[in-house]
Amino acid sequence: MGIDIEPTGAALGAFVSGLELGKLDADASDTLIEALGEHGVLFFRDQDVPPEAHIAFAESLGEIDVNAFFSPNEMYPQIAEVRTRPENTYVIGEAWHTDHSYEEAPALGSILVARQLPSRGGDTAFSSMYAAYDALSDGMKETLRGLRAVHSSYEAFGVGLSKMPEAERTERFKDEYPFGPDVVHPVVISHPVSGRPVLYVNRSFTTRFEGWTERESRPLLEYLFEHGSSVEFTYRFSWEPGSVAIWDNRCTWHKALNDYRGETRLMHRITLKGCPIAA
Ligand code: SIN
Repeated sequence: MGIDIEPTGAALGAFVSGLELGKLDADASDTLIEALGEHGVLFFRDQDVPPEAHIAFAESLGEIDVNAFFSPNEMYPQIAEVRTRPENTYVIGEAWHTDHSYEEAPALGSILVARQLPSRGGDTAFSSMYAAYDALSDGMKETLRGLRAVHSSYEAFGVGLSKMPEAERTERFKDEYPFGPDVVHPVVISHPVSGRPVLYVNRSFTTRFEGWTERESRPLLEYLFEHGSSVEFTYRFSWEPGSVAIWDNRCTWHKALNDYRGETRLMHRITLKGCPIAA
């Protein structure tokens, strides 16, 4: 069976069929990496992906990057658990973000597998940062091309953690918060695979423009965060048992919807190492 890639018809995303995810050959892996650079996020339905197949799928696409801030699965430390318990009011990843932008070489992508879903809700929304950049005026594009921005893990996992209930914080981090130093990236990057320009700031991790104060940066960043979440650039994915999504962190944002209070949701995530990014 050949690979079939069917765009969603929205600004980003495509449904892929005709593949067994744990058993990709090199040609299929290359096709998926290219499709990811084009569509930003790929969705798969009706997959049988036990943890071993999840890991094999990740390794066929690149090197695994273990996230320092998530609880690892007990048997498979390469897999991060994105878990919401019935008592939680906080959902991991509920603000728009792109994974690991606080690293020198931000993650290439993340692969999320649905393990336990709520009876309703719990979708993930994605937004295209190609589309967000393309829709800006020429004047704004020129201004942004001259800027670099600071990205910080402390902003989300330090300041943000203070809002999390203590028991949950202790369970997840065991009082060790592995913050790295802040990093600086161009505000407009060239996507490493497609070469297309991308708006590269995000609400969770970008704190200010290089050489600007936080207060000076806030109005323009706020505009870009609002702009990037415009509904025209987004696609909302509804999970079903057997669903898998892989997104490219260099050209998309995502957010987990916090709309299933009192229920459990468990997802397994593997993140793939990326390369340094440039204008
Ligand atoms: C994440 O931000 O990686 C989690 C997304 C989700 O749980 O839908």
